[in-house]
Amino acid sequence: MTRQAYVDGRFVPIARARVAIEDRGYQFADGVYEVIKAVAGEPRDLDRHLARLERSLGELRIPAPMSMRALSLVIREALARNPVTKAIVYLQVTRGVAPRNHLFPSVVRPSLVVTVRRAPFPSDRERAEGVAVFSLPDQRWGRCDIKSISLLANLLAKQQAAEAGCREAWLVDEAGRVTEGSASNAYIVDGEGRLVTHPLGPRILGGITRSVVLELAREAGIEVVERPFTLEEAKRAREAFLTSTTSLLLPVTRIDEQVVANGVPGSVTRRLARLYAERVGIEEAAAGL
Ligand code: PDD
Repeated sequence: MTRQAYVDGRFVPIARARVAIEDRGYQFADGVYEVIKAVAGEPRDLDRHLARLERSLGELRIPAPMSMRALSLVIREALARNPVTKAIVYLQVTRGVAPRNHLFPSVVRPSLVVTVRRAPFPSDRERAEGVAVFSLPDQRWGRCDIKSISLLANLLAKQQAAEAGCREAWLVDEAGRVTEGSASNAYIVDGEGRLVTHPLGPRILGGITRSVVLELAREAGIEVVERPFTLEEAKRAREAFLTSTTSLLLPVTRIDEQVVANGVPGSVTRRLARLYAERVGIEEAAAGL
């Protein structure tokens, strides 16, 4: 099967898909993106992803390339042309193609690219045993709530974490508080069994998985506290985990050199991972826990 990409109005084999060298995404990282999970061809939480996309576009004053309804049809068509059971849709909108100039071009059409690939979900082992995270200073800009394609600080952090043998970087602000991961949101369970995660705002991306998991927690009677927690608190926490569209809900069992609690995923984490897997229809994930 040849993978097909949607590029500015048409589907083309991915090997032939091209964008212009004066695309502002290429020259300035002047664009936004979404990563959407699809199971059996059905995108999950699509409305939430499209709402976040609209918001990101609005914050950067990039016009939407088409209505969100039309965009959802393009996403479904992309999934139909690239049939995989568990897929990740990557969608990117940039301000468009124009001669390089820091100022916004006056008349320009935003560029839209949509690709689909097999979902790189974590292994059964990672889901069952948990993963290690590596703490690093949060060196990103002041608008992390915008899902911008400008991800250099995230890439550097994730690379450094991987080189230290860890799956993810946990980013720490100047006050010693964990904001989020390089590509995921961060949580702990405190001594009273409360779920604690950084509040929404400019310091973190409002994860779609985060919004779903917090809802599931509240429905399950787990108290949710949206407040920052420090790295030290996390190292002493009863449980820790991370979430993202591609990582699902992954237990964190080591932070730097510190093993979290007894080093095995805790009961709140396992329960929420199971609820989340059920909710998005990833049966193996539910079975593996
Ligand atoms: N990353 N925080 C950051 C900085 C992220 O990049 C992501 C997602 C999240 C979690 O958001 P969501 O639950 O909506 O996936 C939090 C995506 C998956 C990526 O860049 O590949």
